[in-house]
Amino acid sequence: MHATASRRAFAKYATLSFNTDMTLELFVCSTYYFIVQAVTATRNGAWHGRSAENSGREGEAVRTQVGIIGAGPAGLFLAHLLHRSGVDCVVLENRSREYVESRVRAGVLERTTVQLMHEIGIGDRVVREGLVHAGTTLAVNGEPFHVDFGELLDGAAVTVYGQSEVMKDLHVSADRLGIPIHYEAQNVTPHDLDGERPKITWRSQKGVHSLECDFIAGCDGFHGVSRASIPADAIKVFERTYPFGWLGILAEVPPCNHELIYANHEHGFALASMRSPTRSRYYLQCSLDDKIEDWSDEAIWQELAVRIGDSFAPKITRGPSFEKSIAPLRSFVCSPLRYGRLFLAGDAAHIVPPTGAKGLNLAAADVIVLAKALAAFYASGSTREIDGYSARALDRIWKAERFSWWLTHLTHRFPHMDGFDRQMQVAELEYLRQSRAAQSVFAENYVGLPLNA
Ligand code: FAD
Ligand code: DHB
Repeated sequence: MHATASRRAFAKYATLSFNTDMTLELFVCSTYYFIVQAVTATRNGAWHGRSAENSGREGEAVRTQVGIIGAGPAGLFLAHLLHRSGVDCVVLENRSREYVESRVRAGVLERTTVQLMHEIGIGDRVVREGLVHAGTTLAVNGEPFHVDFGELLDGAAVTVYGQSEVMKDLHVSADRLGIPIHYEAQNVTPHDLDGERPKITWRSQKGVHSLECDFIAGCDGFHGVSRASIPADAIKVFERTYPFGWLGILAEVPPCNHELIYANHEHGFALASMRSPTRSRYYLQCSLDDKIEDWSDEAIWQELAVRIGDSFAPKITRGPSFEKSIAPLRSFVCSPLRYGRLFLAGDAAHIVPPTGAKGLNLAAADVIVLAKALAAFYASGSTREIDGYSARALDRIWKAERFSWWLTHLTHRFPHMDGFDRQMQVAELEYLRQSRAAQSVFAENYVGLPLNA
């Protein structure tokens, strides 16, 4: 315990003097000084343990190693990984815990994400309640075919387990480990990102607070404050918007198939998914002008039956939806994922269209790489891994962007499409139906590319 505290204090002290030009030699020469100072500081309690409980007093500056903005999947996976490496962090979230837990979003976990849950000690429930899918069905004009991940890729599979369940598991575990999370933090603002002492200020009912950090992790989603705090000329943005949205519903009815069905139909895309053996999740491609009120439950079930086709339509159990929403589709990447001492991860850095369920999984993959880089910095003082974070994460991000973009183009109806475009889609899907090589490529991307982290 004392050793860990000393190590943390040492690392904190070391990073106060860190700058990107610092050489390892200089670092080694300074080590003796740091150790003496760090041990003294630890004895004095100057650096440690002043986070969650003690940060409530107005005006008091609290110090941590990594300040994390956003308690979504990226922020909380990162907090757990840092905690496990003995790196201190504080998480600031502008919504309530209940709100974060109840957001209905992703549903399919790649192997790497499930493995991450095991590694941070929250793997029990996903094993008990998650649905392991070793394949999926695609349909073109109502004619289905099956892609068997397990057979093509040596037992590969994904796990169906809702993002809200992942969030509940992360919250329970954060409570148990004492990871400090401040919910309903208002006006969260990062400062001095290009200096050596960045900080985050926020407001609570008790007043204005300040968190001094070595680094800030911007895990606050697409609309967050982190990316917006970077000067426009310091990052490059790549973007595609799509001329349609997804209408999604949840209904307490059994799914129409034991695995997912991705359907390309002349009317547009449909997806049959699930959350449990008794809870179905369905999506329909819709117009961006559509309003929820335009789609009665009856109209949704009717259109799903048409698009999914005769093989599965009779197996669709209809019932009242208890969640209904429309989401726009977007591809977005910002580069690099770093500005000074701010690192971006998850939706703050990139967005994929939901086709292929990569969003949550990409967020998890980013923070695995980031946590490893930060832990390496605190362990050795070398900046090599944190300097490499952006390039390393972007390499995999672009591949997931490509897959989501490709699958969206393959399965959706675009307004400008003519007969030729439609035949190209059908030909490519027929090729996928018949070619083991094409199915292997699809399966490899769907279950998640290796992390190489
Ligand atoms: P988020 O989950 O967005 O978390 C960011 C957190 O930061 C939030 O809790 C937010 O409240 C907080 N925050 C924002 N601004 C601030 C601020 N200024 N200060 C402090 N905190 C802040 N992916 C799939 O794979 N399949 C799907 O079906 C799917 N459906 C989706 C539906 C919707 C409507 C949306 C928006 C996304 C969907 N996604 C889906 C994407 C997936 O949910 C995300 O990729 C995933 O949540 C990314 O996690 P994250 O932690 O990076 O970002
Ligand atoms: C789900 C969402 C997706 O985007 C997808 O490709 C598969 C499943 C879901 O929410 O269940």
